[in-house]
Amino acid sequence: MTGTPVVELYAGPRAGLRPLFELAEDSAAQLDTYLDQGDVLVARIDDDGVGHLQLVGTGRPGEVELKNMAVDESLQGTGIGRRLVHAAFEHARSRGAHRMLVATATADIGNLRFYQRVGFRMVAVDRDAFVPATGYPDDIVIDGIVLRDRVWLDTDLG
Ligand SMILES: CC(C)(COP(=O)(O)OP(=O)(O)OC[C@H]1O[C@@H](n2cnc3c(N)ncnc32)[C@H](O)[C@@H]1OP(=O)(O)O)[C@@H](O)C(=O)NCCC(=O)NCCS
Repeated sequence: MTGTPVVELYAGPRAGLRPLFELAEDSAAQLDTYLDQGDVLVARIDDDGVGHLQLVGTGRPGEVELKNMAVDESLQGTGIGRRLVHAAFEHARSRGAHRMLVATATADIGNLRFYQRVGFRMVAVDRDAFVPATGYPDDIVIDGIVLRDRVWLDTDLG
């Protein structure tokens, strides 16, 4: 695949994107609870879905959460994630949001770099968010760090 990715609002069945969602979610039970929520943007190259980003409400006015995003493994690191996030900023602004939140594992150093490179800053940590009681296996290790705690980041959409 060599074309330029186009990002658009996804209108098809969410089940069709489940393999992409699973790249970013270690708990099938958790994914079942939110797969169908909110709005999803999809990045396409030559009609193939190569990445996605899901936005859901937080229940607080003017605020939206980037709930799940992923880029096809063969195309990671080529700028598609940044393109999806920028499209999500525009989409959220057009719907009146002024703040976007995202949560990820403290263990995932790569994601922490990605989210800070695209404009997010850390705001809070939830200890023991990713444990068997919340649907996560207790044997996941990322970059040598046990998957356990969650960090929240946010950005002002201006
Ligand atoms: C995280 C993810 C969505 C990033 O998308 P991407 O298309 O690979 O990212 P980009 O190519 O747009 O990278 C943007 C910047 O982030 C950096 N970056 C992206 N992934 C990174 C990683 N794993 N480690 C370090 N830096 C990373 C890039 O180097 C680039 O930095 P630069 O501005 O200095 O050049 C993608 O790697 C992915 O799908 N990962 C698996 C699923 C996942 O963990 N999703 C997020 C959790 S919800």
